[in-house]
Amino acid sequence: MASTERIPAGIHNAIDYERLAPEALGAQRFAYIAGGSGMDVTVAANRAAFERWAIVPRLLRDVRGGHSRLQLAGMDLPHPFLLAPVAHGLLAHPEAERATARAAQATGSCLVASTLTSCTLEEIAAAAGPARWFQLYLQPERARTLDLLARAQAAGYRAIVLTLDANLQLPSRSALASGFVLPADCVAANLAHYPQVPAPAPRDGQSRIFQGAMRHAPTWDDLRWLLSQTRLPIWVKGVLHADDARQLQDAGVAGIVVSNHGGRGLDGSPASLAMLPTVRAAVGPDYPVLMDGGVRSGLDAFKALALGANAVLIGRLQLYALAVAGALGVAHLLQLLTEELHATMAQAGCATLSDITPEVLTPC
Ligand SMILES: Cc1cc2nc3c(=O)[nH]c(=O)nc-3n(C[C@H](O)[C@H](O)[C@H](O)COP(=O)(O)O)c2cc1C
Repeated sequence: MASTERIPAGIHNAIDYERLAPEALGAQRFAYIAGGSGMDVTVAANRAAFERWAIVPRLLRDVRGGHSRLQLAGMDLPHPFLLAPVAHGLLAHPEAERATARAAQATGSCLVASTLTSCTLEEIAAAAGPARWFQLYLQPERARTLDLLARAQAAGYRAIVLTLDANLQLPSRSALASGFVLPADCVAANLAHYPQVPAPAPRDGQSRIFQGAMRHAPTWDDLRWLLSQTRLPIWVKGVLHADDARQLQDAGVAGIVVSNHGGRGLDGSPASLAMLPTVRAAVGPDYPVLMDGGVRSGLDAFKALALGANAVLIGRLQLYALAVAGALGVAHLLQLLTEELHATMAQAGCATLSDITPEVLTPC
């Protein structure tokens, strides 16, 4: 893994980090990160969805007071790009999420730290700025979930992002074909000290899926329980259906992330962008809705904002920038994304994020 800690020449756009990532990561790690699940159908759908919309430029509008600042859940953010929760940062860089956290702090960006990071949530908090959220996977034992919640609260995380779309993750065939296996030193640091409970072997006639992998999958009861256990706002990530969105809103969830886990959940699920307008319509204009999946530029983000997102999360690009140039790379990526968004806004006659309404787009 080659990490230069300098911005390599030839990076003009955020997506250039994707171009340089195979060399920085090596072929197998790149295949694992770039891949989704199964045949990578949803990975491709996430990207293709952005190409179905064009942006209509506007004339003579005064954008000299323009900016991309927003208020999100009590945070003042300079731009609508959050760093998505991603597992195993050690695959991309020896400093793993500590480097990402430093980039978030330097740029005033909000970082969402995964349950499955290579550094502990406390180590990440020590390097990050105040805008930090913790992504939670419900644990098989409630006591362990409560311990993670207490640790996140003590470490100053301001919200919990509960991910619900990854109970079952089938590997991507392209990652399998590359021969990728998770290196032995890539452990989930937050969970390393909890006792390991071996999964019971399925009995005769039992399904490896229903009675196996899904035996601890959360239900609505678990969500209600979680909501009763913390005063931290709970967001839910992995929403694609309008009815789920409405039910989550009614249940007291603070906001939702329209996401298909970057195509790493159900292969064949629709593009996040494609579902965003119906989800937004279901929850009304004021409920916080974030989106991720396939965002590779400020122009993509502009389209997601126009279709109803308050902000977007950046998954793979974050790991690519981390692999290519460490903390500096992630900070540079966020700067490039923000400048690309500003350029798109200016050309479309939008001075602020609230000017980015569905009318700025046309299907193509
Ligand atoms: C390598 C990798 C690891 C991920 N790990 C997590 C995780 O631990 N928790 C989570 O909620 N989402 C995880 N995700 C999904 C991201 O948070 C995000 O939804 C997705 O990457 C967005 O799509 P994009 O990569 O096209 O930006 C992971 C994604 C990748 C690529």
